[in-house]
Parts: sequence; C-alpha cells; structure tokens
Amino acid sequence: MTGRVEGKVAFITGAARGQGRSHAVRLAEEGADIIAVDLLEEIDTVPYPLAGKEDLEETVRLVEATGRRIVARRADVRVLSELQAAVDEGVAELGRLDIVLANAGILTMGLDTPKAFLDVVQVNLLGVINTVTAAEPHLQAGGSIVLTGSTAALLSGSVDMAGAGGLGYAHAKRHVGRFGHDMARVFAKQQITVNVIHPTNVHSGMMDNDFMYHAFRPDLSSPTGEDMMPALVDKSPMGVPWLEPHDVSEAILYFASDEAKWVTGQQLKLDGGQLGPVTNAGVPA
Ligand SMILES: NC(=O)c1ccc[n+]([C@@H]2O[C@H](COP(=O)([O-])OP(=O)(O)OC[C@H]3O[C@@H](n4cnc5c(N)ncnc54)[C@H](O)[C@@H]3O)[C@@H](O)[C@H]2O)c1
Repeated sequence: MTGRVEGKVAFITGAARGQGRSHAVRLAEEGADIIAVDLLEEIDTVPYPLAGKEDLEETVRLVEATGRRIVARRADVRVLSELQAAVDEGVAELGRLDIVLANAGILTMGLDTPKAFLDVVQVNLLGVINTVTAAEPHLQAGGSIVLTGSTAALLSGSVDMAGAGGLGYAHAKRHVGRFGHDMARVFAKQQITVNVIHPTNVHSGMMDNDFMYHAFRPDLSSPTGEDMMPALVDKSPMGVPWLEPHDVSEAILYFASDEAKWVTGQQLKLDGGQLGPVTNAGVPA
C-alpha cells in the first residue's frame, strides 16, 4: 500500500535527526508534505550533543528526495511564539495541517540538580503542550496528533532513579501520557485523534553517545556502543537492544493515516516486551 497519507501535511518537532527525521521521511514517502522544526543549539544540562543545522539540512534533503515539499525552521519547543511562527509559515506555504508529531525531547539523566529536572520538563512536557497549542488553530476533522512518550512513563525504578534529571524525564513522560489521554477526549468532538507512543530504547543520538556508553558500562574506562549492547539486550525480554527509528515511524504512520481515523486515546507501547511483565496499565499513573 502506498500513499497512506497522500495530500496531508505533517508538523514534526525535533525533526533534524533520529526519530523525528525518520517520521518526516516515512510520511513523505507516503505522500505527506512536512513542516519540520528543531532547536539547532545545545542545552547545558544535556550530556550529549543535540542536532545541528547540517542535521536539519539533511532531513530537508531526504524529504525532497521523495518528491514531497518541506518547510524547515529553527524553533524551540519551550517557546510557544517560535512554534506558532513556524507552523503558521508552514501552513501558509503548504496549505493545510493534518498531522502533528510532538517528538522533540532531551534526556538529562545522571545530573542531580533542580535545573536538570526543570530543563527536561520544559522541553519534554511544556514543549509537547506548546506544540499542540501552536497546531490547534490549523487542525480540522480527520486530523491526528501523536505525542512521543517513553516506556519511562510506565516503568518505575528505571530512569526515574537516575538523578533529578532522570526523574524529570520520567515525570515529563508520565504527564505526556496523561495529557494525551485527556486531550483525546477534548479533541473527540472535532474528530481529531490524539494518541501517545511509548518506545523503549531507540537507536538515535539520545542513546548512541559517549555519555550513555559510560552509563551502561561504568566498569569500562572507554566503552563503545558495542560494549553497551549486552547491557541493553539484558533488559529486553525479546532480546532487542534498541528499536531503529523506522520501527517507530511505522506506528506513527498508522496513527497518521485514515486507517486509524477512529483510533484515539491509545497509549501504544513499542517496548520489545519490556513492560509486559511490569504492568498492563493503559494509562500512566
Ligand atoms: N532514544 C530513545 O531511547 C528514546 C526512547 C523513548 C522515547 N524517546 C523519545 O523520542 C523522542 C525523539 O528522540 P530521539 O530518540 O529521536 O532522540 P534525538 O536526540 O536524536 O532527537 C531529539 C531531537 O529533538 C531536538 N530538540 C531537543 N530539544 C529541543 C527543543 N527545545 N526544541 C526543538 N527541538 C529540540 C534535538 O535537537 C533532536 O534533533 C524524544 O521525545 C525522546 O524523549 C527516545
């Protein structure tokens, strides 16, 4: 099946690399035009590099290679006015808005300061609320919103134990789950769906970096990505160290397509079995 989102326009935050880029390209392959935003600078409590200008340029190149159009802008999800400007310009150029992917996120794991907690909540929770707020005036019946949570939203005793930054990550993702759950009711009368995805580890810049190698292999002085693999596999009932971004994009594509036009309020776990033994809760606590 092709053209599953033909003629639609998708607004994607954190689109310069990783999952956001993958979603942009996958939706474009299926016929969507893209409004892409990213921060394009560092945040001082994040212990790994965020995306740069050249990353967003690569997303533009990949989307255009599919034959679709893309409007790419620098915007910080913490600043509502920046998101509004980007989405307004994107809609003016591409004509409409159908799909909203609140995907941008950071991880300040390991840092045990109030600022680390507050920074991750600002990006991962306030940023999601701002994304929906900026998009809402442009959405109409048949629209779909997908929020990116994390298994961290549904799992205690994991990242929430990794300093104030890790707790902030879990806190933000739990609230993203609740926000999505309640927004599904709020948008139902408009016939706009709202769903949340909760991936386990994903192979992106957030996981594939020196900080993470050290976090998972504190026994080694210079660990590599390869060295981290056994520790990741060990935590996965299905033995999968991490998902590839395109694994997540397939779920996004489903929620964004007309196949899911009556599917709303879901909390979809893409977890390789990680949460099964822990909880079957549909709604984060
Ligand atoms: N990688 C994982 O293991 C994993 C697991 C579960 C959930 N997630 C979530 O998936 C989403 C995508 O992350 P990813 O894995 O692609 O990681 P990533 O670090 O590769 O991508 C995140 C993107 O968000 C951008 N960003 C950060 N702060 C921003 C801001 N203030 N404004 C605009 N853009 C900003 C970054 O520059 C980057 O391009 C995040 O919400 C993350 O929390 C990731």
